[in-house]
Amino acid sequence: MSFRKYALITGSNSGLGFGIAARLLEFYKPRIEDEPETFTIVLTCRSRAKAEDACKRLKELFPERKIRLEYVLLDLSDMESVEAAALEIKSRYPKLDYVYLNAGTWDLQGIHWIQAIFATLMNPVKALTYPTYYKEAMGRTSKDSMGYIFQSNVFGHYYLKTRLNELRVLGSSTKIVLTGSLVAKKESLNFDDIQCLHGERPYQSSKRLLDILHFAEIESGLPYQQYVVHPGLCTTNMYETFLGFIVVFAKLAFWFCRLLGSPWHTVSPYIAAFSYLWIAIHSHKEDENIKWGSATTMFGKEKILPTSVELVLPSDKEKCMTYMQNLYREWKHKLNVR
Ligand SMILES: NC(=O)c1ccc[n+]([C@@H]2O[C@H](COP(=O)([O-])OP(=O)(O)OC[C@H]3O[C@@H](n4cnc5c(N)ncnc54)[C@H](OP(=O)(O)O)[C@@H]3O)[C@@H](O)[C@H]2O)c1
Repeated sequence: MSFRKYALITGSNSGLGFGIAARLLEFYKPRIEDEPETFTIVLTCRSRAKAEDACKRLKELFPERKIRLEYVLLDLSDMESVEAAALEIKSRYPKLDYVYLNAGTWDLQGIHWIQAIFATLMNPVKALTYPTYYKEAMGRTSKDSMGYIFQSNVFGHYYLKTRLNELRVLGSSTKIVLTGSLVAKKESLNFDDIQCLHGERPYQSSKRLLDILHFAEIESGLPYQQYVVHPGLCTTNMYETFLGFIVVFAKLAFWFCRLLGSPWHTVSPYIAAFSYLWIAIHSHKEDENIKWGSATTMFGKEKILPTSVELVLPSDKEKCMTYMQNLYREWKHKLNVR
């Protein structure tokens, strides 16, 4: 039975998550012709309709692949859903080999247009790699009364992987892949407001927190392997939901940056998923210490590059770890988990 492999991808009905599923499907082939289910990809989505549609689109892309595609419903902004998903995964799968914690969201409300135009004219690549002109919604909370972006991007996944570990679905050969971002700037996280309930940049704050937690966790020792990876910049639903048809111009601008030499404008979710596939195939323990990113040459040849992480102090790691561990215990108690 050990030749069977299982990959879980959260938020896989669109964008990067769908791209990761497609790349795994493209790469892995059944090892035994008459044993079609040596590789199982488990998608997680927020609704049955989205999950079934994603499975159908993946099968259409690779009709010849004998790989099992299944799904589990998961809404990270609802802790009951996260706990239910952990139990369902435990009941259905003996282990997970790859866990892509990809789902994520932002709550874009607007753009400071004058600032955006000025920054783009001054330095287009910088302006379109590290944007400072987005207006995010402030103070949005989930039904669990947590910061919505914090819970969707960080805590929901933290709870899920910690529970899966307790339930013995993860092991020393499991590779967990966290989804970071280039915008994880040091100043975006306020340690007195870790859920970013009062800050202007809940998305950036969540991604900086994710980086800090990752390095804190690997330093303290984990019973599984864990990597932090980002997709560069690709135009997905995250952009489309807010920009509508203007997303076409964003895509053109991203291509333009690539032609100007930016390695990070991956543009398509397929190229953006490259480093995620690379982690599954090539990564070693020492790669845990690096934040990897999907990148591209000017001509669209994919590659993987290390990404700089702004200084993380030992005290910052300690604060983040303690905060998450306490919140995890609090939620286990609230959900009556023994
Ligand atoms: N696109 C980029 O350039 C970029 C850059 C850096 C990092 N990222 C990261 O890449 C990841 C994927 O984003 P994407 O660009 O592929 O965007 P996307 O197309 O919007 O995909 C996001 C996925 O996450 C799911 N999701 C959102 N909130 C969720 C929640 N509360 N519970 C469960 N699932 C949830 C979405 O489900 P629904 O369809 O139901 O909303 C969707 O499946 C995110 O973590 C994002 O921060 C993206």
